[in-house]
Amino acid sequence: MSEKVKFEKREELKQKPDPKNLGFGQHFTDYMLSYDYDSEKGGWHDLKITPYAPIELDPAAQGLHYGQLVFEGLKAYKHNGEVVLFRPDQNFARINQSLDRLEMPQIDEEELLEGLKQLVDIERDWVPEGEGQSLYIRPFVFATEAGLGVHPAHNYKLLIILSPSGSYYGGDSLKPTRIYVEDEYVRAVRGGVGFAKVAGNYAASLLSQSNANEQGYDQVLWLDGVERKYVEEVGSMNIFFVENGKLVTPQLNGSILPGITRKTVIALAKELGYEVEERHISIDELLESYDKGELEEVFGTGTAAVISPVGTLKYEDREITINNNETGPITQRLYDEYTGIQSGKLDDPQGWRVVVPEY
Ligand code: COI
Repeated sequence: MSEKVKFEKREELKQKPDPKNLGFGQHFTDYMLSYDYDSEKGGWHDLKITPYAPIELDPAAQGLHYGQLVFEGLKAYKHNGEVVLFRPDQNFARINQSLDRLEMPQIDEEELLEGLKQLVDIERDWVPEGEGQSLYIRPFVFATEAGLGVHPAHNYKLLIILSPSGSYYGGDSLKPTRIYVEDEYVRAVRGGVGFAKVAGNYAASLLSQSNANEQGYDQVLWLDGVERKYVEEVGSMNIFFVENGKLVTPQLNGSILPGITRKTVIALAKELGYEVEERHISIDELLESYDKGELEEVFGTGTAAVISPVGTLKYEDREITINNNETGPITQRLYDEYTGIQSGKLDDPQGWRVVVPEY
C-alpha cells in the first residue's frame, strides 16, 4: 500500500447538488489536493488533501501577471459501485509537457496519480452515476512567487479540484453544435504554446467565442495561424471529419492540443475497422467535399465535450448543414463505444480504466 497523503478533515461536509441539475464545472467537492514548490527548499513539498476553500495569494504572484498557469482535465466515473479514472497517466504526462513549455518545474507523475486516487477515494460519494455524468477533475499549477520581474518563478502551487458534472454544452451531449470558422483571429502558431494546455490559449479564444455566440454559434473552429487555410481545432475540442466513410483529423503540428480523447478515438476507430488519416485539411477541401456529397459527418472530441457532433459549419458567407443536423452513425458508434468503456458498461481490453482503491 502506498503512503497515505496528509489529510486535513473539514468540520462540516457540504450539501451535495441536485444530480438532475449539475451543469458543468459549477459545484466543487469537500476537499482538494494541494502541493507547493519552492526551488530553495528542495522543490515540491507538503502534499496534502485539505478542505476545498479559497486560497491566499500575494497580489504580485507572477502567475497572475505573466501567465505561468497550466492545467489538465480528466474524469472519474462510477459503475456498479466502483470508481474509475480514465487514462490518468496521459494527463499527468501532458501536464509535464505543458510545464516544460512554460519553464515550470516538472511533477512526479506517479506520486500525483497516487495523491489523486486518495483524493477521489475520499470523495467517492460525489461521483455522479447518471447518464453522461462524471466527476470532472481539474489539476492546475501556477506561479505564486511575488514579484514583477519577468523570469521563471521560484515558487508554485499545484491544486486538484473536483466537480461533479453533466454534459459540457448542457442538455443532451449528442445535440449537434453550431460552429463558426474563425477567419480573422488565430489561436496559436507553430513554435508557440498551442500544443500546451496553458490558460492563455483559452483567454486568447474568448473574443472570437463571444463573437460567434452573438451570431448564434456555439464554438469557434480555428484555422492555422499562418495561412488561415488549414483546420486546427475547436475552442474546447479536437475535430474529426468523416469523408466517404474515412475519418480525417488535423495532424498534430505543434499548434494543436494533443487531445487524449482525440488519441483514444483514433485508436478506437482503427480497432473498429475505420480508416483514420491525420493530415493537413484545408477549409476549401472540406467545402468541396461537402459540395460533392462526401462530407458525411463532423464531430469534436475532448474530455469535457466527450464526442460531440457538429451540425453546422459557417465559413465566410457560407453555412453548411452536416448530415441533416443529426448525429451520424459513425459519431454515434464511437460515442457509444467510448462512453461505454469509460463508464464501465463495456469491456476495457486496452486497460484504459484505472480503479480507485478504497484506502
Ligand atoms: C477539457 O476538455 O477537459 C478541457 O480542459 C477543455 C475545456 C473545458 C477548457
